[in-house]
Amino acid sequence: MIFTENTKMADLIHANYLLLSVINRFGIKLGFGEKSVRQVCDEEGVDTGFFLEIANAFHDKDYFPQKQLQTYSVKQIVDYLKTTHNYYLNEKVPEIEELIDKMILKQEGRSLDLVRDFFGQYRHELAAHIRHEDELVFPYALEVEAFYKRLRERGEVLEVPSIVKKFSMKKFSKEHENIEDKLYDLKNILIKYTPPVDDHALVNHILFDLFSLEKDLNDHSRIEDKIMVPKVVEMEKAIASVI
Ligand SMILES: [Fe+2]
Ligand SMILES: [Fe+2]
Repeated sequence: MIFTENTKMADLIHANYLLLSVINRFGIKLGFGEKSVRQVCDEEGVDTGFFLEIANAFHDKDYFPQKQLQTYSVKQIVDYLKTTHNYYLNEKVPEIEELIDKMILKQEGRSLDLVRDFFGQYRHELAAHIRHEDELVFPYALEVEAFYKRLRERGEVLEVPSIVKKFSMKKFSKEHENIEDKLYDLKNILIKYTPPVDDHALVNHILFDLFSLEKDLNDHSRIEDKIMVPKVVEMEKAIASVI
Protein backbone atom coordinates (compact mmCIF):
# COMPACT_ATOMS: atom_id res chain seq x y z
CA MET A 1 0.00 0.00 0.00
CA ILE A 2 1.34 3.42 -0.97
CA PHE A 3 0.10 6.41 0.99
CA THR A 4 -1.02 9.42 -1.01
CA GLU A 5 -2.02 12.95 -0.05
CA ASN A 6 -5.65 11.78 0.05
CA THR A 7 -5.01 8.92 2.49
CA LYS A 8 -6.63 9.64 5.83
CA MET A 9 -3.95 10.33 8.41
CA ALA A 10 -5.69 7.97 10.85
CA ASP A 11 -5.57 5.14 8.26
CA LEU A 12 -1.84 5.62 7.96
CA ILE A 13 -1.45 4.80 11.66
CA HIS A 14 -3.84 1.85 11.40
CA ALA A 15 -1.78 0.52 8.50
CA ASN A 16 1.45 0.80 10.47
CA TYR A 17 1.49 1.88 14.10
CA LEU A 18 5.27 2.36 13.97
CA LEU A 19 4.56 5.50 11.93
CA LEU A 20 3.50 7.10 15.21
CA SER A 21 7.12 7.99 15.96
CA VAL A 22 7.57 9.38 12.42
CA ILE A 23 4.53 11.60 12.89
CA ASN A 24 5.92 12.82 16.21
CA ARG A 25 9.20 13.75 14.55
CA PHE A 26 7.31 15.99 12.16
CA GLY A 27 5.65 17.68 15.13
CA ILE A 28 2.22 16.30 14.16
CA LYS A 29 -0.03 15.45 17.10
CA LEU A 30 -2.89 12.97 17.29
CA GLY A 31 -6.53 13.98 17.07
CA PHE A 32 -6.76 14.49 13.32
CA GLY A 33 -10.32 13.08 12.92
CA GLU A 34 -11.12 12.29 9.29
CA LYS A 35 -8.54 14.66 7.82
CA SER A 36 -6.33 13.57 4.93
CA VAL A 37 -2.54 13.60 4.91
CA ARG A 38 -2.58 16.81 2.86
CA GLN A 39 -5.00 18.58 5.22
CA VAL A 40 -3.02 17.66 8.33
CA CYS A 41 0.32 18.57 6.71
CA ASP A 42 -1.04 21.94 5.51
CA GLU A 43 -2.36 22.78 8.96
CA GLU A 44 0.92 21.80 10.65
CA GLY A 45 3.12 23.55 8.09
CA VAL A 46 4.69 20.27 6.95
CA ASP A 47 5.72 19.67 3.30
CA THR A 48 3.22 16.99 2.13
CA GLY A 49 5.50 15.57 -0.58
CA PHE A 50 8.36 15.16 1.84
CA PHE A 51 6.14 13.66 4.54
CA LEU A 52 4.78 11.10 2.06
CA GLU A 53 8.26 10.09 0.91
CA ILE A 54 9.36 9.48 4.46
CA ALA A 55 6.15 7.68 5.50
CA ASN A 56 6.19 5.45 2.40
CA ALA A 57 9.90 4.65 2.63
CA PHE A 58 9.40 3.86 6.31
CA HIS A 59 6.38 1.65 5.68
CA ASP A 60 7.42 -0.24 2.56
CA LYS A 61 10.96 -1.46 2.15
CA ASP A 62 10.54 -1.74 -1.62
CA TYR A 63 9.31 1.83 -2.00
CA PHE A 64 11.27 4.06 -4.33
CA PRO A 65 10.99 7.85 -4.22
CA GLN A 66 8.41 9.27 -6.62
CA LYS A 67 9.98 11.77 -8.96
CA GLN A 68 6.95 14.04 -8.88
CA LEU A 69 7.10 14.35 -5.11
CA GLN A 70 10.71 15.50 -5.02
CA THR A 71 10.06 19.13 -4.26
CA TYR A 72 11.81 19.03 -0.91
CA SER A 73 15.37 20.00 -0.18
CA VAL A 74 18.38 18.09 1.11
CA LYS A 75 18.14 20.34 4.17
CA GLN A 76 14.67 18.97 4.95
CA ILE A 77 15.98 15.39 4.70
CA VAL A 78 19.00 16.17 6.86
CA ASP A 79 16.87 17.93 9.48
CA TYR A 80 14.57 14.93 9.68
CA LEU A 81 17.47 12.46 9.93
CA LYS A 82 19.08 14.55 12.66
CA THR A 83 15.85 14.58 14.67
CA THR A 84 15.84 10.80 14.39
CA HIS A 85 19.46 10.55 15.55
CA ASN A 86 18.57 12.68 18.50
CA TYR A 87 15.63 10.44 19.32
CA TYR A 88 17.86 7.34 19.33
CA LEU A 89 20.66 8.78 21.43
CA ASN A 90 18.74 10.95 23.85
CA GLU A 91 15.45 9.11 24.23
CA LYS A 92 15.23 5.51 23.06
CA VAL A 93 18.67 4.22 24.03
CA PRO A 94 18.66 5.74 27.57
CA GLU A 95 15.13 4.35 28.02
CA ILE A 96 16.28 0.81 27.16
CA GLU A 97 19.37 1.23 29.30
CA GLU A 98 17.20 2.19 32.25
CA LEU A 99 15.06 -0.91 31.78
CA ILE A 100 18.16 -3.14 31.63
CA ASP A 101 19.46 -1.58 34.85
CA LYS A 102 16.09 -2.16 36.47
CA MET A 103 16.17 -5.81 35.41
CA ILE A 104 19.67 -6.22 36.86
CA LEU A 105 18.62 -4.61 40.13
CA LYS A 106 15.63 -6.92 40.48
CA GLN A 107 17.57 -10.01 39.60
CA GLU A 108 20.33 -9.76 42.15
CA GLY A 109 22.84 -12.56 42.18
CA ARG A 110 22.27 -13.57 38.60
CA SER A 111 24.65 -12.70 35.88
CA LEU A 112 22.98 -10.25 33.55
CA ASP A 113 26.11 -8.17 33.24
CA LEU A 114 26.66 -9.52 29.75
CA VAL A 115 23.46 -7.84 28.58
CA ARG A 116 24.44 -4.52 30.11
CA ASP A 117 27.98 -4.65 28.70
CA PHE A 118 26.73 -5.65 25.28
CA PHE A 119 24.20 -2.84 25.17
CA GLY A 120 26.77 -0.34 26.49
CA GLN A 121 29.11 -1.34 23.69
CA TYR A 122 26.27 -1.04 21.21
CA ARG A 123 25.50 2.47 22.42
CA HIS A 124 29.11 3.49 21.69
CA GLU A 125 28.97 2.06 18.20
CA LEU A 126 25.65 3.70 17.45
CA ALA A 127 26.96 7.04 18.76
CA ALA A 128 30.04 6.76 16.51
CA HIS A 129 27.88 5.94 13.48
CA ILE A 130 25.67 8.93 14.20
CA ARG A 131 28.61 11.25 14.86
CA HIS A 132 30.13 10.35 11.50
CA GLU A 133 26.89 11.26 9.75
CA ASP A 134 26.21 14.40 11.78
CA GLU A 135 29.75 15.73 11.50
CA LEU A 136 30.77 14.70 8.00
CA VAL A 137 28.04 13.20 5.81
CA PHE A 138 25.26 15.72 6.53
CA PRO A 139 27.46 18.85 6.33
CA TYR A 140 28.78 17.46 3.04
CA ALA A 141 25.25 16.91 1.67
CA LEU A 142 24.25 20.45 2.69
CA GLU A 143 27.38 21.90 1.12
CA VAL A 144 26.67 20.08 -2.17
CA GLU A 145 23.14 21.47 -2.19
CA ALA A 146 24.29 25.01 -1.44
CA PHE A 147 26.94 24.85 -4.16
CA TYR A 148 24.48 23.34 -6.65
CA LYS A 149 22.00 26.16 -5.98
CA ARG A 150 24.64 28.87 -6.39
CA LEU A 151 25.80 27.29 -9.60
CA ARG A 152 22.27 27.20 -10.99
CA GLU A 153 21.46 30.75 -9.95
CA ARG A 154 24.62 32.31 -11.33
CA GLY A 155 25.25 29.86 -14.15
CA GLU A 156 28.99 30.29 -13.87
CA VAL A 157 31.83 28.13 -12.69
CA LEU A 158 32.64 28.79 -9.03
CA GLU A 159 35.38 27.72 -6.67
CA VAL A 160 34.37 24.23 -5.44
CA PRO A 161 34.34 24.01 -1.61
CA SER A 162 37.04 21.63 -0.37
CA ILE A 163 34.58 19.32 1.41
CA VAL A 164 32.79 18.78 -1.92
CA LYS A 165 36.08 17.68 -3.49
CA LYS A 166 37.06 15.39 -0.65
CA PHE A 167 33.95 13.28 -0.15
CA SER A 168 31.19 11.70 -2.23
CA MET A 169 27.88 9.99 -1.68
CA LYS A 170 29.24 6.92 -3.43
CA LYS A 171 31.87 6.68 -0.72
CA PHE A 172 29.18 7.03 1.95
CA SER A 173 26.98 4.37 0.29
CA LYS A 174 29.85 1.91 0.18
CA GLU A 175 30.87 2.46 3.77
CA HIS A 176 27.38 2.85 5.25
CA GLU A 177 27.31 0.09 7.84
CA ASN A 178 24.37 -1.87 9.02
CA ILE A 179 24.00 -0.80 12.62
CA GLU A 180 20.99 -3.03 13.35
CA ASP A 181 22.64 -6.45 13.22
CA LYS A 182 24.10 -6.21 16.69
CA LEU A 183 20.62 -5.68 18.12
CA TYR A 184 19.66 -9.07 16.75
CA ASP A 185 22.49 -10.61 18.76
CA LEU A 186 21.40 -8.77 21.89
CA LYS A 187 17.82 -10.00 21.49
CA ASN A 188 19.17 -13.53 21.21
CA ILE A 189 21.18 -13.19 24.39
CA LEU A 190 17.96 -12.24 26.18
CA ILE A 191 15.81 -14.86 24.46
CA LYS A 192 18.21 -17.79 24.55
CA TYR A 193 21.00 -17.37 27.01
CA THR A 194 20.15 -15.27 30.03
CA PRO A 195 19.07 -17.10 33.15
CA PRO A 196 15.27 -16.94 33.62
CA VAL A 197 14.19 -13.58 34.95
CA ASP A 198 11.20 -13.52 37.30
CA ASP A 199 9.74 -10.27 36.02
CA HIS A 200 8.48 -11.47 32.62
CA ALA A 201 6.76 -8.19 31.85
CA LEU A 202 10.02 -6.28 32.25
CA VAL A 203 12.01 -8.61 29.99
CA ASN A 204 9.22 -8.51 27.40
CA HIS A 205 9.24 -4.74 27.56
CA ILE A 206 13.00 -4.67 26.88
CA LEU A 207 12.61 -7.10 24.00
CA PHE A 208 9.73 -5.15 22.44
CA ASP A 209 11.80 -1.99 22.68
CA LEU A 210 14.78 -3.71 21.04
CA PHE A 211 12.57 -5.03 18.23
CA SER A 212 11.10 -1.62 17.58
CA LEU A 213 14.48 0.16 17.76
CA GLU A 214 15.87 -2.36 15.29
CA LYS A 215 12.97 -1.73 12.88
CA ASP A 216 13.22 2.03 13.29
CA LEU A 217 16.97 1.98 12.59
CA ASN A 218 16.39 -0.18 9.57
CA ASP A 219 13.89 2.27 8.14
CA HIS A 220 16.14 5.19 9.05
CA SER A 221 19.03 3.68 7.08
CA ARG A 222 16.72 3.12 4.14
CA ILE A 223 15.77 6.80 4.14
CA GLU A 224 19.47 7.68 4.11
CA ASP A 225 20.18 5.25 1.28
CA LYS A 226 17.08 5.71 -0.85
CA ILE A 227 16.10 9.33 -0.30
CA MET A 228 19.17 11.31 0.73
CA VAL A 229 21.79 9.51 -1.38
CA PRO A 230 20.01 9.65 -4.79
CA LYS A 231 19.09 13.29 -4.28
CA VAL A 232 22.69 14.33 -3.52
CA VAL A 233 24.11 12.07 -6.25
CA GLU A 234 21.94 13.88 -8.80
CA MET A 235 23.42 17.20 -7.65
CA GLU A 236 26.95 15.79 -7.68
CA LYS A 237 26.44 14.73 -11.30
CA ALA A 238 25.12 18.16 -12.28
CA ILE A 239 28.11 19.82 -10.57
CA ALA A 240 30.62 17.44 -12.19
CA SER A 241 29.21 18.22 -15.63
CA VAL A 242 30.00 21.92 -15.40
CA ILE A 243 33.21 22.15 -13.40
FE1 LIG B 1 21.67 7.97 10.46
FE1 LIG C 1 23.28 5.61 8.96
